[in-house]
Amino acid sequence: MAEEPPTKRKCLGADCDNDAGTLQCPKCLSLGIKDSFFCSQDCFKKNWNTHKSMHGKTETSIFHRFFTPKVVSKPDPETGYFNPFPSFAFTGPLRPVYPLSPRRAVPKSIPHPDYADDGIPKSGRIARANKIELLDAKAQDGMRKVCRLAREVLDIAAAAVRPGITTDEIDEIVHNACIERNSYPSPLNYNHFPKSVCTSLNEVICHGIPDKRILLDGDIINLDVTLYHEGFHGDLNETYYVGDRAKADPDTVRVVEAARECLEEAIKLVKPGTLFREFGNVIEKHAKSKNCSVIRTYVGHGINSIFHCPPNIPHYARNKAVGECKPGTTFTIEPMIALGKYRDVTWPDNWTSTTIDGKKTAQFEHTLLVTETGVEILTARQPDSPGGPISPPVVNGEA
Ligand code: MF3
Ligand code: CO
Ligand code: CO
Repeated sequence: MAEEPPTKRKCLGADCDNDAGTLQCPKCLSLGIKDSFFCSQDCFKKNWNTHKSMHGKTETSIFHRFFTPKVVSKPDPETGYFNPFPSFAFTGPLRPVYPLSPRRAVPKSIPHPDYADDGIPKSGRIARANKIELLDAKAQDGMRKVCRLAREVLDIAAAAVRPGITTDEIDEIVHNACIERNSYPSPLNYNHFPKSVCTSLNEVICHGIPDKRILLDGDIINLDVTLYHEGFHGDLNETYYVGDRAKADPDTVRVVEAARECLEEAIKLVKPGTLFREFGNVIEKHAKSKNCSVIRTYVGHGINSIFHCPPNIPHYARNKAVGECKPGTTFTIEPMIALGKYRDVTWPDNWTSTTIDGKKTAQFEHTLLVTETGVEILTARQPDSPGGPISPPVVNGEA
């Protein structure tokens, strides 16, 4: 993995181009982060609200590290499977099916991101991570390549979706497809995430952990694939219908197709000058027109040599996201759309996020490059990509 050349230390302020002074963020210092410099007290104060979210990320990593969730129920004598959180108030019918398979290995010869060993995205990157990056031609090519590979891997995984396969088997497929492409599966050990892909079923909004759960006819499943290849991350996801029963259920089709269309509507706006806060307005408008709600807790993000970096891309209306599209920026839009309430509840595994009412939710994600004239969808579907839009089922008695 190539190291970046040393640069003159810059102020962390979002819209500030000054060189850094000697003022360091005291909270960062107390967390052991040694390169959080600002040009002035004024700039530090102005940027406090966005900057302080970086502290939370570090604290979360530390939390994950020391408080491994307790596994308390007994394995089924027949199968050896068990629910690790038997006393948790699950919001819907889905349950975790443990044990998780052992951690999968990535050959040393494949370049690893900086969190691969200890699970912690490095704070040394906080400085760069506070600015919206504009990629040069070479970096843009790097993003094109990893995003094309990520699309290949998602399509391979999607082709395996059928009743009877476990989400862990899908994880194995994703993991091996990444390695065959000389790529590291970015989720693996990112903030201690234990697997190589997120598999989010039915009421799971995002960050589902692949386990021994078998896919059932009537389920929907989101596969969220991210690859790290030659120094860049490429991130995309789609939601798929499992079997014919899912495609025959009007509510299921309504939420999946609404999510797909919300992403399409937002992408239509991408061009230089569009404010990042605009996407949420069209997404929420479209979701509401389909009688669906927009998840507020999880957002799209900048992505390049860092998995998650500015800008933040909220998917809800009237948000206060900072910044505008400029040629050379790469970021994701990834709306999560729910049939019922937008509120979320996280399982005790500290990852799996579900709807509070247990109703279904769907998501689609692309990594995008802002060009001089508009947008390049770096993770675009190919003519033979599995999945794709369907029409609402014709219900008995209705035309
Ligand atoms: N791919 C997800 C996203 O769209 C992030 C997954 S992080 C993980 O941003 F750790 F859960 F893998
Ligand atoms: Co993703
Ligand atoms: Co993403």
